[in-house]
Amino acid sequence: MTDWREQLIVPRAPFIPSVVWVDDPTTDGFVAVSRNDDEPRWRALVEADEPIITQVDDGTTEPGTTGLQPSSSCSQPSLVAAMLSALEVREGHRVLEIGTGTGWNAAQLSERVGTGEHVVTVEVDPAVAGDARRALTGAGYSPWVVTGDGTNGYPPAAPYDRVICTASVRAIPRAWIDQTRPGGVIVAPWGTDYGDDALTRLEVHEDGSASGRCGINLAFMRIRHQRRDFLEPTADELNAADATRTTRGGRELFEMVTFARAAFTIGLRVPSCYLTVEDVDEDHRLIELHDVRSRSWARATLVRGKDPWTVHQLGPRRLWNEVDAAYAWWCDAGKPTPDRYGLTVTPDGRHDVWIDAPDDERRWSLTF
Ligand SMILES: C[S@@+](CC[C@H](N)C(=O)[O-])C[C@H]1O[C@@H](n2cnc3c(N)ncnc32)[C@H](O)[C@@H]1O
Repeated sequence: MTDWREQLIVPRAPFIPSVVWVDDPTTDGFVAVSRNDDEPRWRALVEADEPIITQVDDGTTEPGTTGLQPSSSCSQPSLVAAMLSALEVREGHRVLEIGTGTGWNAAQLSERVGTGEHVVTVEVDPAVAGDARRALTGAGYSPWVVTGDGTNGYPPAAPYDRVICTASVRAIPRAWIDQTRPGGVIVAPWGTDYGDDALTRLEVHEDGSASGRCGINLAFMRIRHQRRDFLEPTADELNAADATRTTRGGRELFEMVTFARAAFTIGLRVPSCYLTVEDVDEDHRLIELHDVRSRSWARATLVRGKDPWTVHQLGPRRLWNEVDAAYAWWCDAGKPTPDRYGLTVTPDGRHDVWIDAPDDERRWSLTF
């Protein structure tokens, strides 16, 4: 038994709905797997150290049709354990969770604090919240399951010793800091629109600021209202786009899109830039950059053995040039890994990032 398994006291199966969703390689979407029709497959999903998608398209897609976007899930067990470990929940703590999902993590929290009365969990989707309430009651847990927007926290039960978000965020909501006691801890998957998020642990201070370090890679779904969005240029727009060549080679482009290499840094230096990477087939990869607000877009088309590769750009921003410059900055800065970064949220809500220490000269404010 590995360490993380020992930390997850509550079994997962009672919290997993009888219909879950899996990748469908034929459509690039998601199809339903029903426990009634295929118990062995459902059981294998429950027992794997993988996330389980429990809702797609905010519940608007029915089993039997193809889902496009996961909108609720039961998170990957080893990552749930890592987040709980970072949270350092103790008996008697008052805990706020944002993103109830299946309720499995709320049950883990209830076990840790000793009573469900001290756990509040907020879920934005009423149907998901209803299922979680039933699963929690059935398993003998009684946290408060609140249906609502968790970015507002839940003031009636504040202040909290611990706040944990199990959906990822681009900005730490002010309400979470205001509702955490000084010395309390906030844990969330946090990052920009460019690539994955980092497990981030902030301590709340007397002056209303919060600060802490970034850690391991967490690929969580975005909290509603902060979701990423992409552009699909029309054929006419594509024809009118600037076309240049990138002098970057395959290794550099790999670093530019990889969390543990340059991607986390690039996201911190290039605001409002959503990265997508599509492997069209074994020989063709598309790296695209999207800023829906300014309607700027860029695409590098990689063809095996055919470099230098073409870059198309359109809109008022030259996103590829911005990302390329941020990559050069990362190289000059000694290629800092995500775990060398920290975040300070000031009392007025500014998000400042720094490398190694808050007073490092490499400290800057993010723009959203
Ligand atoms: C990865 S799932 C949570 C996993 C969950 N903790 C568990 O144990 O199964 C993320 C959840 O966050 C919810 N969510 C998204 N935006 C939200 C918001 N603004 N407020 C509260 N919940 C939100 C989603 O509906 C989804 O159920």
